[in-house]
Formats: sequence, C-alpha cells, structure tokens
Amino acid sequence: MQFSLMPARLLKLLVVQSHCSQTVLSQPQEASPSSTSTTASSSTVLVDASTAKVPMLSVDFPDPSIIQDTDGIWYAFATASGNKNIQAARASSPSGPWTYLDQDLLPAPGAWTDGRNTWAPDVRILAPGSYVMYYSGELANSTAFHCIGAATASTVLGPYTATAEPFACPLGQGGAIDPAGFYDNTTGHRYVVYKVDGNSIGHGGSCNNDVAPRVPTPIMLQEVSTADGISHVGDPVQILDRTAADGPLVEAPDLIRTANGTFVLFYSSHCWVSDQYSVSYATAESITGPYQRAAGGPLIRTGDFNLTAPGGATSVEGGGMMVFHADCAQGRCMFGAGFEVDGDSVVD
Ligand SMILES: *[C@@H]1O[C@H](CO)[C@@H](O)[C@H](O)[C@H]1NC(C)=O
Ligand SMILES: *[C@@H]1O[C@H](CO)[C@@H](O)[C@H](O)[C@H]1NC(C)=O
Ligand SMILES: *[C@@H]1O[C@H](CO)[C@@H](O)[C@H](O)[C@H]1NC(C)=O
Ligand SMILES: *[C@@H]1O[C@H](CO)[C@@H](O)[C@H](O)[C@H]1NC(C)=O
Repeated sequence: MQFSLMPARLLKLLVVQSHCSQTVLSQPQEASPSSTSTTASSSTVLVDASTAKVPMLSVDFPDPSIIQDTDGIWYAFATASGNKNIQAARASSPSGPWTYLDQDLLPAPGAWTDGRNTWAPDVRILAPGSYVMYYSGELANSTAFHCIGAATASTVLGPYTATAEPFACPLGQGGAIDPAGFYDNTTGHRYVVYKVDGNSIGHGGSCNNDVAPRVPTPIMLQEVSTADGISHVGDPVQILDRTAADGPLVEAPDLIRTANGTFVLFYSSHCWVSDQYSVSYATAESITGPYQRAAGGPLIRTGDFNLTAPGGATSVEGGGMMVFHADCAQGRCMFGAGFEVDGDSVVD
C-alpha cells in the first residue's frame, strides 16, 4: 500500500476528512511520506476518528476486554467496580447496544489475593465449555503489589474458579498486571501477554515512576498450554518496554494477528490518571518480535473522538474493532472504535 509507511497520526487526521481514505490519502497535506518511505516495512493501523464517541456503557467499566462466545453473543469484562471483583456486559454486536450484567464473575479471586482491587480481566475460550480468565489480583501478603491470576469456568459468565497460585508473580520486579490471552490459529500456539508492574517499585512522581532512576515496565509474552491456557511453556519473553516518550510506563498489552500474518501489539502509555494516557501500537512479523513502534505517536489520545485519557484497549480477535476506556461522569466508561490494518477489513 502506498500509504502504509506514513505516520499513523497523519493517516488518522486524513481519514477524519473523508471516509474515502484512498482518495484522500493519495493527496497528503501534512508530512511527506518520503521522510519514512525508506524504512523497513511496517503495518499501519487506521482508526476512523471522525465521529465523537459516546460511551457504549455509561457505568464505571475500566480496562475492558471483549470476546465472542461460541453461540455468537459478545461479552465484555472489566475491572472491579460496583461491588464486583469482575464486571461483565453482553451484546449481540461488538458495537452494541451493550447490556450491563449485575453479577460478579469472580467472587473469590484466589487465596493469594486479599480479594480487593481485582483488575483488568481477559477471558479466552479454550474449547466449547472451557473458559479461562486472566486478571490482576492484589497480594494478600503485600497489598502494595499485584500479580497475574488465572481462573476457569465452563460457561462464559462463570462464576470463575481461581487457581491456587498466581499465573505470574515477578515480585522482585514489582509484580505484574494487565494480562491478555492470544491464540495463533495458524501455529496452534497459545500465549498470554502482560505487564511487569515496575512502577510499583518506582521512585515517585506520575504513577510512581516519573523520578529517576525510572524502572522498567516491560511487556512480557508467555506461551501457555493449549489444553489449559495456564501451564507455562518455556520462559516469558520481553517484547516491549517503556521509553521516555511513554512517560512512566507502558501497560495494558493486547495482541492480535492480522490475516496476512502481521502481529499488532496494542498498549497504553503514561499514567491512567493523566490526560496523556493513550493507546499506541507496535507491529512485528514474528510473535516474539522485534516489535516496531508505529511512527507518529498514539493511535487514540485525549481529544480524539472527544475523549479524555483513553486506554486499556482490547481488540476483538483478528482485529477490526476495539474496546477501551476513557473518562466519563461515572469514572471510566467503555468506548469502542473500528479500525483497520493497512486497508484490510474495516468496521465502524
Ligand atoms: C502484511 O501487510 C502489511 C501491509 O499491507 C505489510 O506491511 C506486511 O509486511 C505484511 N506482512 C506479511 C507477512 O506479508
Ligand atoms: C506473597 O505471595 C506471593 C503470591 O502468592 C508469593 O509469590 C510470595 O512468595 C509471597 N511472599 C512471601 C514473603 O511469602
Ligand atoms: C464532548 O464531551 C463533552 C463532555 O466531556 C460533552 O459535553 C460534549 O457534548 C461532547 N461533544 C460531542 C460533540 O459529543
Ligand atoms: C484465524 O483467525 C482469524 C481471525 O480471527 C480468521 O480470520 C481466520 O480465518 C482464522 N484462520 C484459521 C485457519 O482458522
């Protein structure tokens, strides 16, 4: 594609001017594509930011994830709020309308947790009647830290039963949060990506990691058993880490594989309480990387779609539509956006 090497930000702005992206993109009005045209091939994600977004759910529903159940119904899952450890909502289409479900999917987040501040759930279907939820639990023995938990159920809404031990708990590096499952249907391998929560042992400032020496907050890729989605296969591999441009951290990873085999890793940068919180992405031709950050800055940031502090994005499997949270009167509401990768399938 002639526009595939242009900065995402430029593409996004151009798309705002017209839904006929091919026509508009052939006449770029800002940066010259020649400035990047000699770099190695990299995919570009486009989000149609032409419409102001309203919440898909007007409740506090942070760090949403999304899957389609085997019967075709869509489910979204979110961080603790409303007196629930794990929240859920249901829809017949990923773009809604969404119905909030008044039930707690994880009443007991595991004996290793204190049962509070359970964050960022992600549910994957291993096989019909076999569901696994990954989540972030607050440690019973040290409430300043979170680790990744895993829980299983035979139906999408559970309730889920937590395993006895955490899935990943690198306490020396600050613990871990924000897991997301990924199944590569071309290789038959299953993975979990997550963030090492280094800023929990940072030295102060924004999200506790804005004061030197800044600590790493790497995104890890852990292969898991396809049978249970939990047992580790080998050691975790680091696939990204924060840079100065990310502020104190990168977090909330989510991985997809596009139809032609490109891996797209979505992640959030900056502190979630800051207006700089935003969704970015990096791409790779191999699942273990190297992941190349998109040129042109965040994909979705404050001001886009009339949003404030968007982050915590999760794509539907294979891409085309993502859910994420942004500030709203209720706290952090769930929003959605269609996207395309290099002119492939478009939604929204
Ligand atoms: C997939 O498509 C994108 C854009 O069209 C391209 O940049 C990338 O190299 C392709 N990947 C493969 C493995 O063909
Ligand atoms: C605290 O709990 C975590 C999670 O179970 C465990 O990995 C860690 O070893 C425990 N720390 C102590 C000091 O017992
Ligand atoms: C943008 O959001 C503000 C509240 O944050 C709201 O008052 C305003 O109506 C929104 N604008 C549009 C075009 O939706
Ligand atoms: C793999 O998943 C993608 C996206 O969900 C889908 O488009 C594709 O058809 C699947 N391929 C196979 C071999 O199942």
